[in-house]
Amino acid sequence: MKRLIAPSILSADFAKLGEEIKAVETAGADVIHVDVMDGHFVPNITIGPPVVKKIRKCTKLPLDCHLMIEEPEKYIEAFAKAGADWISVHVETSDLNELLPAIKKLGAKAGCVINPPTPVEKLYPYLELADYILVMTVNPGFGGQEMIEDCLAKITALKNVMKERGLDIPIEVDGGVNAKTIEKTWAAGSDIVVAGSAVFGSNDYASAISNLRNS
Ligand code: DX5
Ligand code: ZN
Repeated sequence: MKRLIAPSILSADFAKLGEEIKAVETAGADVIHVDVMDGHFVPNITIGPPVVKKIRKCTKLPLDCHLMIEEPEKYIEAFAKAGADWISVHVETSDLNELLPAIKKLGAKAGCVINPPTPVEKLYPYLELADYILVMTVNPGFGGQEMIEDCLAKITALKNVMKERGLDIPIEVDGGVNAKTIEKTWAAGSDIVVAGSAVFGSNDYASAISNLRNS
């Protein structure tokens, strides 16, 4: 699979969000990562469906909505209607046996996310239901944190289980991806990397994205 780069708008300038999204699209981004936080599941609050609806019009790239919220089942329809192409939900929240098929029924790709302290085995019952897996390499809530590199071992474990079951599900990595950590991230077997501060904190988005892709 081609390596995909998903800039996280959490580190963009929200005062000019549309321009920032167009700029990373022009700079070679593959996916736009949208961090949705509710102040309960994580200690921070960001954006909801009305903003997704507006940014949908700014880009042709898929919108990858990472729901860091309690009771995600109450909101998946609103995000899908607003134009989310990918919707990921945490294994630490609701019953994913119902949630993942419900997301697919709404026409979006269904992702399954795991936090650093959660054992990787928690994902195993849902692999057959997920379109992608998102491995968190920071405790969610804020951009610009240092990667917890031990979390990358979850990717090897996941790849082994997938192989046994004849599955080939893309793995996305989120948190602390930058010039220092990118090589280990690809080497661990990730297919998609989220990068917030490493892209939006740079003064040249195109070289930040191509350096990450080609490291
Ligand atoms: C963290 C978010 C991440 C965040 C990554 O809770 O899920 O997507 O934006 O930011 P960086 O790349 O700066 O670690
Ligand atoms: Zn995220």
